[in-house]
Amino acid sequence: HGRRGVVVAIDGPSGSGKSTIGRHLAATRGLAYLDTGAMYRAATWWCREEGVDLDDEDAVRRAVAVMPLEMRTDPAQARVVVGDADVTDAIRTTQITTIVSKVATNLGVRAWMRVRQRSEIADALRVEGSFEGRGIVAEGRDITTVVAPDADVRILLLAREDARLARRAREVHGSDDDDAIAATRDQVLRRDADDSTVSTFTVAADGVVTVDTSDLDLQQAIAAVEQVVAERLAAR
Ligand code: DC
Repeated sequence: HGRRGVVVAIDGPSGSGKSTIGRHLAATRGLAYLDTGAMYRAATWWCREEGVDLDDEDAVRRAVAVMPLEMRTDPAQARVVVGDADVTDAIRTTQITTIVSKVATNLGVRAWMRVRQRSEIADALRVEGSFEGRGIVAEGRDITTVVAPDADVRILLLAREDARLARRAREVHGSDDDDAIAATRDQVLRRDADDSTVSTFTVAADGVVTVDTSDLDLQQAIAAVEQVVAERLAAR
């Protein structure tokens, strides 16, 4: 009975540290890395590019269904490509961040994403199709619950609101003073409130291990997640 590759699913609200930690985990373990939030961001970029009215749910669903999206899942050079355009940086602008929930709460879009994300995971489990053929770290809001509930390791990263706001403020504004925090509130709190209408990422589902990163620095958070992964894989 050969052992198949590993699937690590990580969910959490914005500012919980899941992208940084997920990418690092994938790199150190030789796994592929899938940032599913980046896929919703790319869909949002595509709709704008195509001139689709984001309030027209059916038009958004139809546009996303034909989006030529390519996710490059090598964690050392993860890129997001749509058609001929490398949108890796363009999808990180405040403009996209502010409106991405409109696309991410579209249930037709989510159904399409679920299929695409599962096929990315399946690709990474095929030896010849993946980065190193040993599996994938997939990260988002509904990976542990909807996309890959049968993952080998399922982790929910949580952090207190103040910690998440400060982190995002440092990321986006290079500072966590009062002004920077205020400017980050919409991106973190309003967006999480909108996103949580379609996904559950503040309470761990059955079998999901919670790691609270509020009082951990990056190295400590990585170590805590790595420990959960090692334990879970040993128990497989
Ligand atoms: O993690 P992020 O900020 O890049 O995610 C972008 C948006 O996509 C965010 O508003 C929530 C949404 N999202 C989602 O609904 N489901 C996922 N699995 C990942 C992201």
